[in-house]
Amino acid sequence: MARTCPFQPPGRYAELRATTPIAPARVWDGSRTWLITKQEHTRALLADSRVRINPARLPRLSPADGEAEATRSLLTLDAPDHGTLRRVFIPEFTVRRVRTMRPGVERIVDGLLDRFGTLDRPADLVAELALPMSTLVICDLLGVPYEDHAFFQSRSERATRLMGDDESVTALLELRDYLDRLITTKSEATTPDEGVIGTLATQGLRTGGLTHADVLDNAVLLLAAGHETSAAMTALSVLTLLQHPDAWQELAEDPALMPNAVEELLRYLSVADGLRRSAAADIELDGHTIRAGDGLIFLLASGNRDEDVFPSPDAFDIHRPARQHVAFGYGPHQCLGQNLARLELEVTLSAVLRRLPGLRLAADVDALRVKEDSAIFGLHELPVTW
Ligand code: HEM
Repeated sequence: MARTCPFQPPGRYAELRATTPIAPARVWDGSRTWLITKQEHTRALLADSRVRINPARLPRLSPADGEAEATRSLLTLDAPDHGTLRRVFIPEFTVRRVRTMRPGVERIVDGLLDRFGTLDRPADLVAELALPMSTLVICDLLGVPYEDHAFFQSRSERATRLMGDDESVTALLELRDYLDRLITTKSEATTPDEGVIGTLATQGLRTGGLTHADVLDNAVLLLAAGHETSAAMTALSVLTLLQHPDAWQELAEDPALMPNAVEELLRYLSVADGLRRSAAADIELDGHTIRAGDGLIFLLASGNRDEDVFPSPDAFDIHRPARQHVAFGYGPHQCLGQNLARLELEVTLSAVLRRLPGLRLAADVDALRVKEDSAIFGLHELPVTW
């Protein structure tokens, strides 16, 4: 179901929630899958140990889907292997650890906004702020040396901007090769290193818990999971605030409202949608029998507009209690980077409000090109002036 409006999920989502919240469907190869649109069922199933993420059994959305090389990243493993691996990563992503990243994120955002003084107007906020912010934050998180930032930035942007064509595949391979070499360098280093790769390469490899391939697969996952998501949320959040000048004004006057506004933006925009799983045993739910082997597709953008959880769900309201959203998923695979994502959004949006108070959209909202068929919803570009 294509999403054509920056703010609204496909209209069918609301229909499904009202009529068939657990909807049987078939994917292209004829196999049976279920579309889950209400939050109650989303939470129950994503937390159920009979529901698995094993890539060999996921519902395939096209003939080419699932043919990629097998990896051992967090997003391909089920219990107990998943929990063992995730425990290695958790210390790098706690609220306390992420708090120490704030000055670094602020420096990155300030550096990018400093450049706005010299840019031609209109400028593209996706290319000038959202994408470089999220790439540079991942560089710091992974521990990519400063002198390699330009390479890392250009390849990540090429990899996401031109999704699917030869240039983007080459850029991804170059990034993988680069990370491969970085892991080797860091595992041989004698001085301690702050980044996630350094920690995993020294502790994970030396204590024998992780292999070089494990570190590589998961470094690539961190890049893939954290780059486009945060960039998409940043650009769409700025657009949403531009379309809601009262909210913009309130946030500019009272920065303490920002954390809740970020939760509401995550709920309202739901950039990650359509999580996939399969059932490993028969599951009875609300009068339906989901059979072992059936696929499951969770429409998170629908769960986040569930009127049983959020009254007037299509309204954007920075004061509503929004934290119950499922924008970061739910259950064992719930977003590992969520504290970092919240920090990136809070820092970037607060800086935009403070430093670009006269920001305006430089195009008609209806003319903005949205990524209607991408795994992560977002904007191709956001022309702004100030
Ligand atoms: C606003 C931005 C973000 C959104 C909306 C988002 C959303 C999600 C969602 C929905 C999942 C669950 C996938 C599933 O269960 O199938 C997930 C997992 C994950 N995310 Fe995020 N994410 C964001 C930012 C980040 C960042 C910044 C990082 C790290 C740099 C990150 C790292 C991960 C990882 C490693 C997983 C897999 C966790 C596991 O399988 O145990 N994400 N994310």
